[in-house]
Amino acid sequence: SFQQQIPHGLKRIPGPRGYPLIGNMLEVGRNPHLSLTQMSRKYGDVMQIRIGTKPVLVLSGLDTIRQALVKQGEDFMGRPDLYSFRNVADGESLAFSTDSGEVWRARRKIAQNALKTFSVSPSPTTSSTCLVEEHVSTEADHLIIKLLQVMTEQGSFDPCQYMVISVANVICAMCFGKRHSHNDQELLRIVNKTEEFIEVTASGNPADFIPVLQYLPSQSLKKFKEFNYRILSYLQKMVKEHYETFEKDNIRDITDSLIEEAKKAEANVNIQLPKGKIVNLVNDIFGAGFDTVTTALSWSLMYLVSYPDIQKRIQEELDQNIGRERRPRLADRSMLPYTEAFILEMFRHSSFLPFTIPHCTTRDTILNGYYIPKDLCVFINQWQVNHDEKIWKDPSTFNPERFLNAEGTEVNKTNGEKVLVFGLGKRKCIGESIARWEIFLFLTTLLQQLEFNVCDGKKVDMTPHYGLTMKHTRCEHFQVKQRFPMKSSQ
Ligand code: HEM
Repeated sequence: SFQQQIPHGLKRIPGPRGYPLIGNMLEVGRNPHLSLTQMSRKYGDVMQIRIGTKPVLVLSGLDTIRQALVKQGEDFMGRPDLYSFRNVADGESLAFSTDSGEVWRARRKIAQNALKTFSVSPSPTTSSTCLVEEHVSTEADHLIIKLLQVMTEQGSFDPCQYMVISVANVICAMCFGKRHSHNDQELLRIVNKTEEFIEVTASGNPADFIPVLQYLPSQSLKKFKEFNYRILSYLQKMVKEHYETFEKDNIRDITDSLIEEAKKAEANVNIQLPKGKIVNLVNDIFGAGFDTVTTALSWSLMYLVSYPDIQKRIQEELDQNIGRERRPRLADRSMLPYTEAFILEMFRHSSFLPFTIPHCTTRDTILNGYYIPKDLCVFINQWQVNHDEKIWKDPSTFNPERFLNAEGTEVNKTNGEKVLVFGLGKRKCIGESIARWEIFLFLTTLLQQLEFNVCDGKKVDMTPHYGLTMKHTRCEHFQVKQRFPMKSSQ
């Protein structure tokens, strides 16, 4: 395909020459977000590489990415047919399957509606602003007690293993109306093994590009398939229970709401949507809903213990604006600009979702004067945008103040919108608001009550491990102190 004819007047996409069979795999290496950022300096925002024998378009630069995903959204909204993606949710995933036509569009809308009703819409029954706020309050209270308890028992600990349960419980509450205990083995086997998923679904996984690798014995592919199977059987069990207890006048959670939609679709001969493809949307919502948010919170804690002055300043802001008598609420967001700036800087600096899920072109198109053929796999380099010297001064420095006005009283919205972590356009994350709200509420509730540090003499290792989401090395040396005697929750 690299020998392809280019229509008259259009340019051929530039890029490095590759070796036979492996293409540019050696130069791409183990940290594609870094190597492809480096290469984009030489070849530009629109660049073509080869992984194995497959050509891949790599997009960098905020303006170019906005042009492709927003202004030419229809052209770039496809998903490539990758081996690993065929294994997610039995090949029926909203996020990973190749569908980007009418069925995908209808499913995305149904998922968005069900999600909204049970997360960010005003809560009809409680004093909370919405169900996200209510669920995070419950889980953050449990988490604080749990962390203080392990601190007393062990003297230091790894916070991730406790946070992941709390975050999973929030999405479980929304999806299934239930929470799990901190030692629920079935849930632990799923939430503690996400590396088995994110390493294989990462942009540039060789097995997706060199077909022979799919037939060779591979420990990581085997674990990946087992992980997908485990999560699928857990979700099928939940769905079955919901079908058995379903009452049309009492829609309890996202699963019920999807079952209701499926029944409607069945009754309507005009809609060609198989009911299984509606109910299994809960797979995408659950799957996308816990690992991402947990990763964001765990990076946040790493920055807080690495920069104790920043932690102190957030706590001062909380003390001044919320005090100690009540819990933080969503409505407090606008009063806590430094906290908001910290969260933005955590997203930017870690860029823990370095590439979006890969896209592919749906038709022949033109971008920045280059000819782009149909069905070309596209990587969107979010990490590059978040570290672009043309946008950010000293991009490698962690500095929340870059998002504040000179007085430090307000978040600079325009700068905030330049941070790219949720994708853009037609495939943009559907959980963005929920995720931002969850992260804000967990962090403020934890920091109002607790001070975090690592044991004397221990250093945290902030090197990210490449994947669909990037994690740091787990750190077992965290400690917490209660900041003041705890009030009963409100
Ligand atoms: C897709 C980021 C949390 C549901 C995506 C994409 C990104 C992303 C980068 C792919 C965009 C693209 O391909 O261009 C994040 C981050 C999160 C987060 C950084 C947390 C900090 C959530 C949550 C949910 C969710 C909480 C659901 C409750 C989805 C779904 C898709 C998606 C269903 C697939 C959309 C599609 O392909 O049409 N997310 N996400 N995400 N996200 Fe999120």
